[in-house]
Amino acid sequence: MKRRFCFYFVSIIILTAILFNTFHKQPEVEDLATIFSLTETEQSFDLLPPSTHAQSKDILFIDDTKKDWKQRLPNALIIGIRKGGTRALINSLSRHPNVKACYRELHFFDRQKNYHLGLDWYKAQMPPSLRNQITVEKTPAYFVTDDAPRLVHQMSPSVKLLVVVRDPTVRAISDYAQLSDKNHGSLRPFEEYVTEDSQHRVLRASSTIVTTGLYVNHLKRWLKYFPLEQIHFINGEELVKNPVHEMNAVEKFLGLEPFIDEKLYYFNETKGFPCLITERNDSAKSGCLSETKGRPHPSINEDVVTLLRDFYRPFNVEFYEAVGKNFGWP
Ligand code: A3P
Repeated sequence: MKRRFCFYFVSIIILTAILFNTFHKQPEVEDLATIFSLTETEQSFDLLPPSTHAQSKDILFIDDTKKDWKQRLPNALIIGIRKGGTRALINSLSRHPNVKACYRELHFFDRQKNYHLGLDWYKAQMPPSLRNQITVEKTPAYFVTDDAPRLVHQMSPSVKLLVVVRDPTVRAISDYAQLSDKNHGSLRPFEEYVTEDSQHRVLRASSTIVTTGLYVNHLKRWLKYFPLEQIHFINGEELVKNPVHEMNAVEKFLGLEPFIDEKLYYFNETKGFPCLITERNDSAKSGCLSETKGRPHPSINEDVVTLLRDFYRPFNVEFYEAVGKNFGWP
């Protein structure tokens, strides 16, 4: 009798523990502030309750039941191009109330050690979002990585792809300026860096700084997996001159309600670039990108600039034909 009582008692305890575990399992939410290295602007935007965000227009778009608030795999990716203006794009895009951006470059589809962490890990890096919001991740290295199109397609054949393109010659100089900063100015001059001979007449055409600008070659690899209609090209030069126009086209491509307008930006004379107006609006530089974006470029020997332009021209023309748009790079 006593043994039977013990048996029933222990069974009830085990059953209760199983049921409790099943129905009260806590979601594995990590400390988001440490995962996403947000800028002050980005943090201030994210931490505000939806109704106090810019112009409160988001009330129109956000499903306020909040019951679907969870981390999701991205449905849009900014895949490139390095130094095209990708940070400016994701920062502007994240102002849209129906966009949730992962600000850290995760290098998931271009680095094996990250890819091996698995899609669950990747998803766990995303900001929580509602069902009607778009989750965006940006890693510009995806565009130039051989296997990235296949791996991205494996994650989702319907993911929308965004690429900011910029005059490839200027892009190469921008890339060099960044590299030179990282090397504290110890890098050999650009002219030497991109050529093979002492006269600077033969381009080092196989160097990454040069091949990154062969947009059409990279695009061809993506087109093996994704139709052109699923890829949107943002004009990097226009993103600086007229961000609203470029961003409206992005909204349309992503199927977002129009939200981004002139009221979100101001031109910062000191920075020489458009900057986002912040909620706090307490510092002249607030809402601008960091000093690593919009660096002064070194002045380059004109012959080397011409060498690069001549090299890129036929690839540019092929690229315009492939995407059906002439970007007008010299
Ligand atoms: P430069 O530093 O050569 O001027 P990415 O974010 O992909 O690394 O691109 C950096 C480039 O973004 C900068 O290159 C700059 O020209 C461009 N850019 C576009 N909009 C900008 C903005 N609002 N503020 C600063 N840089 C911007």
